[in-house]
Amino acid sequence: MIHKYSTVDIEQLNFNQISAGEEPPYDLLLLADPSKQMIDAYLGTSTIFVATAAARVIGCIVLCQINEAEVAIKNVAVLPVLQGKGVGKYLIENAIRQAGALQYRKISIGTANSSIGQLYLYQKLGFEITGIKHDFFITHYPNEIYENGIRAKHMIVLTQQL
Ligand code: ACO
Repeated sequence: MIHKYSTVDIEQLNFNQISAGEEPPYDLLLLADPSKQMIDAYLGTSTIFVATAAARVIGCIVLCQINEAEVAIKNVAVLPVLQGKGVGKYLIENAIRQAGALQYRKISIGTANSSIGQLYLYQKLGFEITGIKHDFFITHYPNEIYENGIRAKHMIVLTQQL
């Protein structure tokens, strides 16, 4: 549910990589991916960035190296009370900038066929649909997932050149 009563001043946010040894923000990570097992599998080869407001973590984004040229956004999440206020857009724009600064040539992001809002947001931020991993959510997740009344079955892969 999106609450409208809290405010976020995007200009006042900070975007930082979390330090090695720091506990990953699982409360946020699990909002984007219901499987802790899947999260732990990609965290090993990933970097976690967080958005903070007045030293409080309000969102996170995970960049995972695929190869020398490509990086993937594996997870992006914002505290439920602060969703819908531009923080997700802020996180993705900063992650794209970060990937470019690190000399990657391509950035990708995957989401379920049922994640209508996310598909809207990612395309609005310059990603184009370039692939479908058929039955990804049926094969890799033990429980059925529904969003917007649609079963999450396939992963829609979106990419953009940097
Ligand atoms: N439904 C409809 N529109 C949406 C949604 C949604 N679920 N999410 C974002 N949007 C739209 C906004 O309306 C806005 O549109 P506008 O620019 O035309 O006004 C635009 O996208 C930007 O929205 P933000 O306010 O920046 O998005 P937010 O801060 O809510 O962050 C996010 C988006 C990360 C998806 C957040 O809602 C969230 O944490 N959701 C739960 C976790 C999740 O689903 N994460 C993504 C999973 S896929 C992955 O991690 C790779």
